[in-house]
Amino acid sequence: MTLLSSKRFLLSALLLSLGASLALAEEQDADKATVETVEEAETYHSPQVDKDKAFFMEHFDDQEAFEKKWVKSEAKKKGVAEEIAKYDGQWQITTPIKKAFNADLGLVLATEAKHAAVSALLDRPFVFGDKPLVVQYEVTMQAGQICGGAYLKLLSKGTDTKADLRSFHDQTPYTIMFGPDKCGSDNKLHFIFRHRNPVNGSIEEKHSKKPTERLEEIYKDKAPHLYTLIVSPDNTYSIMIDNKEVSSGSLLEDFTPPVNPPDEIDDPNDVKPVDWDEREKIVDSSAVKPEDWDESAPAQIPDPDAVKPDGWLDHEPVNIPDPEAKKPEDWDADMDGEWEAPLIDNPACSVGCGEWKPPLIPNPSFKGKWRPPLITNPNYKGRWAPRKIPNPDYFYDDQPFKMTPIHAIGFELWSMSPNLLFDNLLITDDPATAEQFAAQTFTPKLSALTKYEESFLDAAVQFVAANPWVWAVVVLLILVVIVIYIYVRAGPDEDVEEALKKADAMTPDDLLDEEEQEARGGKASLEEPADDEEQSTLRKRKKDDGSGDASKKKDEE
Ligand SMILES: *[C@@H]1O[C@H](CO)[C@@H](O)[C@H](O)[C@H]1NC(C)=O
Repeated sequence: MTLLSSKRFLLSALLLSLGASLALAEEQDADKATVETVEEAETYHSPQVDKDKAFFMEHFDDQEAFEKKWVKSEAKKKGVAEEIAKYDGQWQITTPIKKAFNADLGLVLATEAKHAAVSALLDRPFVFGDKPLVVQYEVTMQAGQICGGAYLKLLSKGTDTKADLRSFHDQTPYTIMFGPDKCGSDNKLHFIFRHRNPVNGSIEEKHSKKPTERLEEIYKDKAPHLYTLIVSPDNTYSIMIDNKEVSSGSLLEDFTPPVNPPDEIDDPNDVKPVDWDEREKIVDSSAVKPEDWDESAPAQIPDPDAVKPDGWLDHEPVNIPDPEAKKPEDWDADMDGEWEAPLIDNPACSVGCGEWKPPLIPNPSFKGKWRPPLITNPNYKGRWAPRKIPNPDYFYDDQPFKMTPIHAIGFELWSMSPNLLFDNLLITDDPATAEQFAAQTFTPKLSALTKYEESFLDAAVQFVAANPWVWAVVVLLILVVIVIYIYVRAGPDEDVEEALKKADAMTPDDLLDEEEQEARGGKASLEEPADDEEQSTLRKRKKDDGSGDASKKKDEE
């Protein structure tokens, strides 16, 4: 075989085996799906909490109960164009795309790029007293998030009836807003509370400081995450994601603008006196230009000591027509003009040709423009600042925790990415109850999802055991990969590289892929470990593709 035809053969072999493994993966996926859901459906029960402890609890598993309790907004968003003002985004009660349990439903904001608002009255209002406020809920950004919020609002007095909820919109007064929000590279974990000014009753939003870590994964990994906010009567707060604290602080110290205004302010009536001199240095007006200061002397002069090098040819041109160039045969003097050979460097000019000029050097007698020197200003008074006066609007609220009572809970959202899923909402005054609630909901959900991924691998292993012919495909694939690997190492050839890339893009996620990766990993470390970039990027890319495929396939079951 010639080199070329052997390459062709290899490529077709590679593509064939990839096709076979793709078919395998699909078959196998279907098998696993039926096994999985039947088994797990038995183990799920909707969570329960002590009625005395919960002001609100919603697991969304009961569609009928949901429809009784929750109210879709019929309002219009204020201050935007009529056609986009309506809250017409779609809310659905449905199973998650990546489901852990058949009977576990969630609330899904199905539509993208539409305003959507839905809310429910609490079982009883939460009044800020001597117990903490604990708010907890789960969000799964099932399609990731490009731009949009997944926060909730705890609505204040004035939302005490279902009629109030029907007109729920962006200006509806809330006491607390809490949860994730992202647009582009900017992401936030909101904790905003609306503080009532004790002097005149006006309301101002207070925004918590940023979490200590950058929270980017939650917008990408399409996995369930648990958000918990605890605000305590001692004015401290703590925010947790997946039971891990990501932010904490004090209502009195860690919010912008601060709850309490400064006790002194600049006197707005104090003005800077006209003769107040803020110049630290001034020009010395008594200085005069020295007699010998020549402002016209140039910065550079020709080097007077330079001499023309030996062998410099004054009359030789720097470039000459290339004596080797030939007029092209199809040159048409009428069309193309008179033919001229292209210019090349004159080989005679090894030292230099043409008129010789001495190089320029800095002028030792260069002075530049004369400027009078600066001296310390004898009238300097320092920087002026207005005097301080007592702040007429001063107050000190030492209990910002005592916020407006909460009557309802709502989502008022807009999202670029569809299928935001909410689940297992709880409002309580007891952190232990929230922990128990998570232990009944979030924790088993996560472990079921993990088990699910593991069982996917198990099923793969079983499938191979039951279908030994798979090994033939695996062996062929490994062989092909090794041979191509050798080719690429021997000298990259565009055909092979191109084809490798194409093949890589269509590699499915399945056991063959893993075997192959192992084989490749082994191969690479046997020879030269790290320096073969082509191979390692290929492997990496494949891994990425693979995991992406895996979740997608599972989603589609
Ligand atoms: C209340 O006082 C604050 C200053 O502390 C001021 O900014 C606000 O405009 C006042 N509101 C009303 C309604 O007077």
